[in-house]
Amino acid sequence: MKTIRTINELRRIVNPARRAGKVIALVPTMGNLHAGHLSLIRRARAASDVVIVSIFVNPTQFGPNEDFATYPRTPDADLDACRNNGADIVFMPAVDDMYPYDGGLTTVSVSKLGDNLCGASRPGHFAGVCTVVSKLFNIAQCDKAFFGMKDFQQMAIIRRMVEDLNFPVEIVACPTVRESDGLAMSSRNSRLTSDERQQAPALWKSLSDARRMILTSNPQASEVIDAIKASLARNAPDGVIDYVKIVHPHTLNDVQVTSPQVLVAVAVKFTNARLIDNILVDAADDRA
Ligand code: PAJ
Repeated sequence: MKTIRTINELRRIVNPARRAGKVIALVPTMGNLHAGHLSLIRRARAASDVVIVSIFVNPTQFGPNEDFATYPRTPDADLDACRNNGADIVFMPAVDDMYPYDGGLTTVSVSKLGDNLCGASRPGHFAGVCTVVSKLFNIAQCDKAFFGMKDFQQMAIIRRMVEDLNFPVEIVACPTVRESDGLAMSSRNSRLTSDERQQAPALWKSLSDARRMILTSNPQASEVIDAIKASLARNAPDGVIDYVKIVHPHTLNDVQVTSPQVLVAVAVKFTNARLIDNILVDAADDRA
């Protein structure tokens, strides 16, 4: 496995691989890798010839009061994890290489899809994500890129960006990896206090119950939202609800009725960590 720290160096390696017709996969991450990230790397390994994992804590997707400075950085453990899970190349650029000019930047943003859900509480976040992901696609010249459904809105926005801007990249959506109690794995889980950690599986429980409710009786979205809020208040009393939403999985617009296919998504703030989770519910699915 090679560790590459500059854009030029990565290009020097990727160009001959492309010319040789190799299928190149990119797994973009911000590091502090856990089993969720590693599942993406393994999926990429199984589906391509060259697996590039990028590790870059991207400053442009953090708001002024967010946790860019304190975002967990664990490069040595990350390199070991990449090696053990089949990465060929780890790309760890410096901020100055990715953003060489102080001020002034061509940016990429996707209108509408970024307005709801996390976009509403994190203005500018998805423009930062789309800009860095566009740069990474151009630098890695990948054929495929792997994203987790844990960040469903991010995945949906990047899919639309790729379609709208004709990037020759296939977006592969991968299922959310969870702890045994249902909590979605996240780099931010380590910031929960022990009480909060006990309460955090309430997000997944409320979503699983909502799914059953929708598949059983197709209630109005507002009824399901009220039930989720009540469940979170009961089971995660220390969490402050940021949003509970039921949206169309492509447009990400709020829906009134819960059929035929909807995404149910929640965000809850604890003292030092904001957690998100979601579930895709399909009326054609009868496993209620
Ligand atoms: P990061 O939060 O490090 O996540 C990297 C990738 O891992 C994303 O595609 C995310 O959805 C996926 N992921 C995180 N937790 C997961 C879990 N529990 N199960 C499955 N996949 C999971 O998302 C970002 O970084 C950044 O926004 C990035 C796309 C790298 C752009 O900077």
